[in-house]
Amino acid sequence: MFLAVLLVLFLSLLFILHLYISSTLPSPKPHGIFSLPAAYTSFSSYLSLSNAELTRMRASYASISHSHKKLGYSIGYPAKLNRLAEIYQRNAKITRSIAALAELQFPNELGKSGGSGVNSPWWWGSWFTNRTTSQFASTASLVRVRESLKHFVRDWSTDGAIERKVIFTPVLDVLRYLSSSSTSTSPFTSGPYKSLLIPGSGLSRLAYESSLLGFHTTACELSMFMNLAFRFLLDESTTSQINQHEVHPYAHWLSHQRVSWQDDSESAFRSVKFPDVVPSLRDAEVKGGSLELVEGDFLTLSKPQQQRQHSGQQPIDPNPNFPSSFPSPSSSSTGNGTGTGGYDILLTLFFIDTSPNILSTLSHIHHLLRPGGIWINLGPLLYTSSALGSYPGSGGGSRLELSLDGIVRVGRGLGMDVVGFGEDGRKRKKRGTGEDGDGEEEEEEGEGEEEGIPECMKPRTICCEYTADKSTMMRWIYEAEFFVARKVC
Ligand SMILES: C[S@@+](CC[C@H](N)C(=O)[O-])C[C@H]1O[C@@H](n2cnc3c(N)ncnc32)[C@H](O)[C@@H]1O
Repeated sequence: MFLAVLLVLFLSLLFILHLYISSTLPSPKPHGIFSLPAAYTSFSSYLSLSNAELTRMRASYASISHSHKKLGYSIGYPAKLNRLAEIYQRNAKITRSIAALAELQFPNELGKSGGSGVNSPWWWGSWFTNRTTSQFASTASLVRVRESLKHFVRDWSTDGAIERKVIFTPVLDVLRYLSSSSTSTSPFTSGPYKSLLIPGSGLSRLAYESSLLGFHTTACELSMFMNLAFRFLLDESTTSQINQHEVHPYAHWLSHQRVSWQDDSESAFRSVKFPDVVPSLRDAEVKGGSLELVEGDFLTLSKPQQQRQHSGQQPIDPNPNFPSSFPSPSSSSTGNGTGTGGYDILLTLFFIDTSPNILSTLSHIHHLLRPGGIWINLGPLLYTSSALGSYPGSGGGSRLELSLDGIVRVGRGLGMDVVGFGEDGRKRKKRGTGEDGDGEEEEEEGEGEEEGIPECMKPRTICCEYTADKSTMMRWIYEAEFFVARKVC
């Protein structure tokens, strides 16, 4: 009897201890589905999740009639599924490597410290791992891992150069214009322009290219899927050579294919090598620029000046081995000497429509710019409530879905002059449009058009794709809008 009471007491104590630990230990999901544990679990589970999908495909094939199976066999369909299994294995080399690096760089957060961390008792590692694994096993997202693999191609391969050229060129042209000293007297600019923020930077190729132009560039990305993938490129232990890695980014969607799997060079099973350059956060230093990563929510970023004073938002550098050139945005970000602080330039690429509340995004863009600062935008308006999951960053529904003229008018109301747009939020009069074959629809200067707008700042429609498979029978072409706005007050 006494022993039974003792046992009950002991079990109750264990239960209370469990509740206490659960409530006091840090939550493993600071950004939910884009958090470190979610991304880590997803990269780790890529192969098992893919194989589960393949098992379903095999079961579907097995369910067709014997005579149809014979037909399928005659064109090598079962062999195609076997090839798919091999491809998953090859992709998993990369995803496993990304996950392994994450374990090294975030040992405490991922419970891989073996209990040696300051706050980690011996049982913490396996308890945390079990907890996060069970928490995210159901939400482990194959879609987001696959998007990251496609971003390696778009951002960091020779194959992605065509897509990059179409969307990067207009933006980089403005940056070049702003970096030239003569712009300080233009009616649309008030230089010098040195500090640059790119929220929703994805795999950061644009941020990297911008930093090479001499800008002090801050790349801010919420999704740890993107951040872990970029870290995989930045860390010498995982990436040290051009074209070191090979990925099969398109093997996950077999619709719209023209060529059978046997022709690996043209089919969805083809591989792409990356990276076309081996990036380092220090590369920009020789050009007088810098590249800083902020792994977190752009909406919580403060102005550079405040950042230094209140240290509310610090770049994340959890691993002493991780490249640590995380300079603060330039002190020139007080720009024209108003002393109010803020970034000189804010650049959004395929970003503003990913926000659950675009008004918060627009307000924060305005807030973070210094007076005279420039906002450059290029992208479509694919709101996430109507296109859930279309982008890697589209986690939840949008609370409101503004049209372009609405965005321009809100921008104006906040104190930003959107160059080349009228009071009604529409592009100023134009006489016609025509494609120059480079994805860009040019607008001729028309009557009433604002005079003296630098060519590179004129609003334009840019026909472009986003991580597209060029060989398929289906293309999704965006007519993305490019515009530049200036913070007036
Ligand atoms: C459509 S993707 C575009 C990525 C990149 N600009 C490009 O063109 O490759 C949008 C990105 O914004 C990120 N994102 C969305 N909301 C964010 C926020 N509040 N703070 C930082 N990043 C955010 C998403 O995680 C996603 O990587």
